[in-house]
Amino acid sequence: MKPIFLTQFLIEEQRAMGKITPDLRLLLEVVTRACKRISIAVGKGALGGVLGDAGTGNIQGEAQKKLDVISNDILLEANEWGGHLAALASEEMDHPHPIPEQYPKGGYLLLFDPLDGSSNIDVNVSVGTIFSVLRKPEGSASSEDDFLQPGTQQVAAGYCVYGPSTTLVLTIGNGVHQFTLDRELGSFVLTQRDMKIPPDTKEFSINMSNERFWEAPVKRYIDECVAGKDGPRGKDFNMRWVASMVADVHRIITRGGVFMYPLDSKTKSQGGKLRLMYEANPMSFIIEQAGGAATTGRERILDIKPNKLHQRVPVIMGSKNEVDLVSSYH
Ligand code: AHG
Ligand code: MN
Ligand code: MN
Ligand code: MN
Repeated sequence: MKPIFLTQFLIEEQRAMGKITPDLRLLLEVVTRACKRISIAVGKGALGGVLGDAGTGNIQGEAQKKLDVISNDILLEANEWGGHLAALASEEMDHPHPIPEQYPKGGYLLLFDPLDGSSNIDVNVSVGTIFSVLRKPEGSASSEDDFLQPGTQQVAAGYCVYGPSTTLVLTIGNGVHQFTLDRELGSFVLTQRDMKIPPDTKEFSINMSNERFWEAPVKRYIDECVAGKDGPRGKDFNMRWVASMVADVHRIITRGGVFMYPLDSKTKSQGGKLRLMYEANPMSFIIEQAGGAATTGRERILDIKPNKLHQRVPVIMGSKNEVDLVSSYH
C-alpha cells in the first residue's frame, strides 16, 4: 500500500472535511516539524550533551532539565514566523510568548508541554511533547485571558512520543490518527486511522506511592482493582506507570486502560498535579475522540472554564466504563 504522509493526510482533510484551514494546516506542519527536531535532540542523549539539569526553575516550581528548555526553544523558534499564530503558551514559560514585531500575527493560539516526562530523560525512558490549539477570540487585544477557554473549544490537539519509535497522535475533532516517523525520510507516515479505546479494561495506571494521600473514592476504586478475581470486580487487574503522561496515555489509546493523577492531600492546595492547559485538555480531547472519557472525578475535564494559565487539575482518563465507575464513586 502507498504510504500516506502527514502532508497528504492534512490536505485531504482540508478538502474533504473543511475542518482544516490553510493556516491550521501550516500550524500542524510546523509543530510536527519542531517535534522531529526535538526527537533528534532527545535521541542524541549523552552524546549531544543534552542530559541533566538546566540549573533553572519554571513557574510550576520544578527544576528544568536541559531538554525542557531546548524543546521549548525549538517550538518557539519554529512557530514564531509563520503568520499563523497570535501567541504561544508553555508549561516552561511564566507568561504567553507574543509573536515578535517583525512577523505577521494569525488567528490561532498554541499551547504546549514541550517535554513531558522530564524525570525519565536521564534514564532513557520514553518522553514526549503535548500540544493544544485554540482560536484567538475575535476582537480581543492579545492577552493572557485569550487562552482561558474550556477544552471543548480546542480545534486540534496532539502529542509525540519519543520512544523506541517516534509516533505522532493527532485529532482535529474527527477521530484520532497515528503517524510514525520514518527516520530515513524525516516524514510522519499514517500508521493507524481512527484509533479507538476499548470501553473495558483490566489495566490501571497510577502512582501507588501516593495511596495514603488519595481521597476515599479513588482508594476504593484501586482497592477493588487490586482485590482481583475474588473482589467485587471479579477479574484480575494489571498495573503500569511509566511516569510520562504521554507514554501512559499512549498505551491506553493503544490497548485500553485507565490513567489517574487524582486529587490527593499533597497537591490539593494547587488543585492537582497535572496542568489543565498543556496536559489535561489536549489529552482529554484525544481520549474522547477515541471513544474514551476524561474527568476530574467530579466534572468532565473539557468543560472546565480555566481561571489561570497554569491551572492544575485532577485527571482520570481512559476506557469509558472504568472512568464512569470511578466518577460514580465520587
Ligand atoms: P512534566 O515532565 O511535563 O513536568 O510532567 C510530568 C508529569 C507527567 O508526565 C507524569 O504523569 C507525572 O508528572 C509523574 O508524576 P510522579 O513523578 O509523581 O509519578
Ligand atoms: Mn515539568
Ligand atoms: Mn508534562
Ligand atoms: Mn513538561
